[in-house]
Amino acid sequence: MKDAPKFGVGRLGALRCSLRDLLMSIEMNTKTPLSPRNTIEFRGVSFHINDILARAIVSGISLEIPRGETLVLLGRSGSGKTTLLKLMNGMLLPTKGEIFVQDRSTAAWDPIRLRRGIGYVIQDAGLFPHFTVAENIALVPSLESWDASRTAARVDEMLQLVGLDPREFSHRRPRELSGGQRQRVGVARALAADPPILLMDEPFGALDPVTRAELQREFSALARRLGKTIVFVTHDLREALLLASRIVLLEAGHLVASATPQEFLRLDHPEVRAFTSSLAITPGAPA
Ligand SMILES: Nc1ncnc2c1ncn2[C@@H]1O[C@H](COP(=O)(O)OP(=O)(O)OP(=O)(O)O)[C@@H](O)[C@H]1O
Ligand SMILES: [Mg+2]
Repeated sequence: MKDAPKFGVGRLGALRCSLRDLLMSIEMNTKTPLSPRNTIEFRGVSFHINDILARAIVSGISLEIPRGETLVLLGRSGSGKTTLLKLMNGMLLPTKGEIFVQDRSTAAWDPIRLRRGIGYVIQDAGLFPHFTVAENIALVPSLESWDASRTAARVDEMLQLVGLDPREFSHRRPRELSGGQRQRVGVARALAADPPILLMDEPFGALDPVTRAELQREFSALARRLGKTIVFVTHDLREALLLASRIVLLEAGHLVASATPQEFLRLDHPEVRAFTSSLAITPGAPA
């Protein structure tokens, strides 16, 4: 580890910049996507596990995700949401069909290049336990050979964006954080290198409701301004309605609905109704 880059927190000016300043600065940092289309497209995709029954975890998936869309994948636990994200970044390859990322099949991409162009917030944050918070966030910038001062400034900026004071958190290890703080570091890490595509697997699941609502609002503003292509997984319909430009509903490995948030609430499908009824006020609760 003697060549490991050093990620000092740098000089801190104002402790908390306004969100507006941060968003403007991220906007200026945003790279031009490598490809003019920058879409993800599933063409007739199935993924089977290699057991004796050759069970399909997801099947018959055809889905086009245009550039700049915030697509929310909604579905019950076990419906195949994480599997779809892993298929998008090439961690899994389809058993049938193909997935195109920026017009190239995931089977044809160099897996390392593919993943560096995709920010991935893993369901349990997935931080490296032996790295500090700053080193975790700086992972892709340093792999991409950013210079140390640009990297350090970016780490600070990202920590502030997710509401963690760089002076307090940069040098901690993941085990010294709460679950919600780890998730926020996971979001900061995914955004750090400004990838054109973001995959987010229940990124706010471990947050308290107040912080969660704050981050959802901030994230929604960020998503609109940056024009990134975002696939956001949740089983929370409220979160889906707040963040999505389109909601795609998965049921037992199949896509059963695809609609804007307004349209989604009006769809006549039993699984949609199961989700919309979860929004209903509990009987007897104050209105
Ligand atoms: N490697 C594997 N071997 C066997 N079964 C698997 C494997 N990976 C996933 N599964 C099964 O595939 C189904 C879909 O899993 P997946 O992780 O995609 O669900 P999910 O929608 O993300 O659920 P959750 O909301 O609980 O995270 C589940 O029934 C899961 O048990
Ligand atoms: Mg999952």
